[in-house]
Amino acid sequence: MKKYIILISGRGSNMEALLNADLPGRCVAVISNRPDAGGLDFARSKGIATAVIDHRVHADRNAFDAALAAEIERHAPDLVLLAGFMRVLGDDFVRRFEGRMLNIHPSLLPAFPGMHTHREALAKGVKLHGCTVHFVTPTLDSGPIVIQAAVPVLGDDTEASLSSRVLVQEHLIYPQAAAWFLQGRLHLADGRVVSRIPQPDSDAMIAPPLTGLP
Ligand code: GRF
Repeated sequence: MKKYIILISGRGSNMEALLNADLPGRCVAVISNRPDAGGLDFARSKGIATAVIDHRVHADRNAFDAALAAEIERHAPDLVLLAGFMRVLGDDFVRRFEGRMLNIHPSLLPAFPGMHTHREALAKGVKLHGCTVHFVTPTLDSGPIVIQAAVPVLGDDTEASLSSRVLVQEHLIYPQAAAWFLQGRLHLADGRVVSRIPQPDSDAMIAPPLTGLP
């Protein structure tokens, strides 16, 4: 059975969705860069090994990345899942795990990489927003895309309401993408996603609700 590791920094709701999804693999560890990450308790309650590699006690990013990589490699995982992991990882680290590391990002990439995606979506007035699972490559939030889900942006949305609607979709598509990888239906070749997964119906379209029109 394939092994996977989840990296978190905070509440860990995506981690919970992954652990509750009965994935075709075994979670061998949950690792946080923050000792106070809420998600650690849930992982422990599931009997999963946890570890903290605290970025604040390492002299620089290279030292942190090296400690994190060593902790990950100890478990020899097939897949590393970044789930609300809020540290930028250096190029060497990313290359070491390239092709076996996925991330969930709360926007329809390539729109709104980085932080505060819901605020930016509202400021730009986009009518569709959503989330993306992608392979991690050295440039932040720009790796090959595996799956996306879209939600309409409503006229009275706030950052909080929009983020909670997107989060529901995150909890669906991340376990889906992880399952495909663990089933061997997904890999990277020459920087592109190669997959044996169901293709979306070409007639399917998510239409945002029209407001203010007769
Ligand atoms: C999620 O929206 C994730 O996409 C983003 O940070 C948030 C983390 O939430 N990177 P959680 O820790 O998974 O609850």
